[in-house]
Amino acid sequence: MNSSLWYKNIVLYQVYVRAFCDSNADGHGDLAGVTQKLDYLKELGINCIWLMPTYPSPLKDDGYDIADFYSVHPDFGTLDDFKTLIAEAHKRDLKIITDLVVNHTSDMHPWFQAARADRNSPYRDYYVWSDTDQKYSDARIIFIDTEPSNWTWDEMAGQYYWHRFYASQPDLNYDSPALRNEMLQVQRFWLDLGIDGFRVDAVPYLIEREGTNCENLPETHVFLKEMRRVIDEEYTDRVLLCEANQWPKDVLAYFGNDDEFQMAFNFPLMPRIYMSLYDADKTPIQWALENTPAIPKNAQWCTFLRNHDELTLEMVTEEERQHMWQAYAPDPKMRLNLGIRRRLAPLLENDIRKICLANAILFSLPGSPVIYYGDEIGMGDNIDLFDRNGVRTPMQWDASQNSGFSKADQLYAPIINMDPYSPSMVNVADQQKDENSLWSSVRNMIQIRNQNVVFGTGELILLQTSKAEVLAYTRKDVNETIFVINNLSDLAQEITLNIVSEKQKLKNLFTGNSFDLRENQLLLSLAPYQYLWLS
Ligand code: BGC
Repeated sequence: MNSSLWYKNIVLYQVYVRAFCDSNADGHGDLAGVTQKLDYLKELGINCIWLMPTYPSPLKDDGYDIADFYSVHPDFGTLDDFKTLIAEAHKRDLKIITDLVVNHTSDMHPWFQAARADRNSPYRDYYVWSDTDQKYSDARIIFIDTEPSNWTWDEMAGQYYWHRFYASQPDLNYDSPALRNEMLQVQRFWLDLGIDGFRVDAVPYLIEREGTNCENLPETHVFLKEMRRVIDEEYTDRVLLCEANQWPKDVLAYFGNDDEFQMAFNFPLMPRIYMSLYDADKTPIQWALENTPAIPKNAQWCTFLRNHDELTLEMVTEEERQHMWQAYAPDPKMRLNLGIRRRLAPLLENDIRKICLANAILFSLPGSPVIYYGDEIGMGDNIDLFDRNGVRTPMQWDASQNSGFSKADQLYAPIINMDPYSPSMVNVADQQKDENSLWSSVRNMIQIRNQNVVFGTGELILLQTSKAEVLAYTRKDVNETIFVINNLSDLAQEITLNIVSEKQKLKNLFTGNSFDLRENQLLLSLAPYQYLWLS
């Protein structure tokens, strides 16, 4: 494959730097800690790291509130540490992308400080101001649990400023040419350091227009195309990954005509994987697949089960949301905004069969999958921690003090210390030694995926099965055909699949065993939650 299309066949790994590995015993994970763990990531088989924000920040939104685009927060290290991390990742043939927050800054950013202090400051126009809080009233509030309005009065400025997230995150004004240029410079700065691309945060909200919901507006796309032009014209093999929590038809626009983002998260698919698992019914996943539009030739979806935010339930109907909340967040403390603030393993009742199946579905569907740090070992969560912090606790490397994460006396957040999720029961070192562990299973899936490019680039054809409990599909390209069969239920299933193939035998990619095809029929007895990848 053309090297500039590298993102089509990757497994990504999302690193929350503060939680990953503390190299200097100050209780906070840091960039040098991530560098120390590159061999671990290589061994797991992933191909690309997504680093969450490490910019200087007052950390009111865990670094998504940037106070300086050109530096590193002291907790995480220095720009030199960043350069070392990039170089060491590249040495191991690992790509590395980082978050770029374009929609807003922290209110502590010098631009905002200058803007609020002086109406005539050149920075005033970098933000969105108003004398009333009645403008753009069709725009929804995203952080509904905490923010009463998208406008906040600023005493010093003598005006209201616009913000789609926390009030401490004023939105940037993309109607300002100076601001747009400035943001392209930010992009160049990190590309010059060698970063392979960006997960661009919160892109639907760049532009505001009266009478609209202020999302996905045409002028937003104009700027995003400028970002793409920079990476295409001035750099090689870099990628832009779009975070737009929108319905597929709206996300489609962010691929442009192969001239905007190369990748975008598939938000509507994610909750439907959980729905299908809970209901033992393939319908939600099939619905998502059938409603995922074709994307431009060089584009790729990015798929995921969990991330650092709440499991968002924005791209579902009201009825589906209520169902998901009842199923997966019975305790109100588990809910946040329009979502669920829990991790993968607790969501799936720590049932390794279900967790493996969810991963197997993710890894076999179209798109490049992302693993959220710690989910490869089934880490737990802590719903007593505020906001989304319950899914951002220290990585559990081993069963020692501080789970091998840090040698400090005081950590940025408590380790999960409740069984069955405490480090003595859930840690990397033990699972690496056990070939039946979740870690080993995930690694196995990644290896098979890495060996079969059809998972990244092949087409998907849904297969008819007589049972709602069995989700089956083919991944196919000119060289290869893989049949994927998933039993979504906790009961064994007998099924017959009609498969047209010249071959009489199909090989199980996990065990090497073969299955006989008789007159284009495949008879299968599936164990509860079993998945098969047959070539
Ligand atoms: C990030 C969140 C963040 C928000 C505001 C999101 O989409 O994933 O963690 O709070 O953007 O920056």
